[in-house]
Amino acid sequence: MTILSIESSCDETAVAVTRDGRTILADEIFSQADIHALYGGVVPEIASRNHLKVIAKLADAAIARAGIAKRDIDAVAATNAPGLIGALLVGLNFAKGAALSLGVPFIPVHHLRGHIAANYLAFPELAPPFLAVVVSGGNTIIAAVRDYTDIEIVGQTRDDAAGECFDKAARAMGLGYPGGRALDDLSQSGDDTRYTLPRPVIDGAPLDMSFSGLKTAVVNAIHNAEQRGETLDKPSLAASLSRAVSDVIVPRTIAAARDYGLNAVAVAGGVAANSRVRRDLTNACRRAGLALYLPPLSLCGDNAAMIGAQAYYEYVAGNVGDMSTNAYASRGI
Ligand code: KG4
Repeated sequence: MTILSIESSCDETAVAVTRDGRTILADEIFSQADIHALYGGVVPEIASRNHLKVIAKLADAAIARAGIAKRDIDAVAATNAPGLIGALLVGLNFAKGAALSLGVPFIPVHHLRGHIAANYLAFPELAPPFLAVVVSGGNTIIAAVRDYTDIEIVGQTRDDAAGECFDKAARAMGLGYPGGRALDDLSQSGDDTRYTLPRPVIDGAPLDMSFSGLKTAVVNAIHNAEQRGETLDKPSLAASLSRAVSDVIVPRTIAAARDYGLNAVAVAGGVAANSRVRRDLTNACRRAGLALYLPPLSLCGDNAAMIGAQAYYEYVAGNVGDMSTNAYASRGI
């Protein structure tokens, strides 16, 4: 089954062509990061307008690169939740229009289910059940994936996403936006014990997480250094933050796998690119005897191939949309 898929939930406009949820035929991405960097964060209205500008061209490019004709497309899919509502509506309506004109089904896909499905593209042998850890700029969840469309969130952030914490910390350190990658690079030469940062625990919800206090603690460390006239040790602050984020995510991942009887862990989302998180997860999973699936960096961030992968399994499960399918800024998985 050949699916044309669209992702436009934030500041990446992406169109892909995938086959049977496992093979990428084309994966086109237009990142608006440079446009939003001017403002230090994503401006929703500007994101929507830029999606509108490039989406049709990207779809043509994806179809051409896949080497298929439009009549070869069996279904069209799009992310319909969660995300920036105006941005989502651009991709959703484009996909609905394409499905209508081609006379094929339209399949709505939850963005986080898509992130999890990136692993099906990277690892042909991976099949549920497994534990998924999705750590991105807008979301941080731990989910039990019992089947391709039977997914339960078992732990999540109560406030900011881990990526938001990295981005705001990076901005305060003058590393630009989105600064997660730059902060990671800087941390390589730092001492991760130099700054004491909190690892919040949620009373009564051991698998839930919190990152807003950590974000504030980094900003306070920067202000304190300024007020005392001290030179900030940026590499060590970056390393201490990366270690703190990893200390929040990794033990909960291992505990969730144990609690829910799952012996494989699949990771997804932009923060899965973080070298500290990757290293600590690799070591912790090895010690706990868990198989670990870490997708290549190209599939960690937002892309449309992951939406096409999940769309195939939604179709198989009968979860097809229609011309009245709406978009939602927030919605359970
Ligand atoms: O999954 P993604 O592309 O978009 C969302 O769905 O949010 O994730 C983007 C996030 C940004 O916050 C970015 O700074 C972060 O992933 N990120 C990183 C690294 N690479 C990207 N954070 C920490 N270390 C990295 N190496």
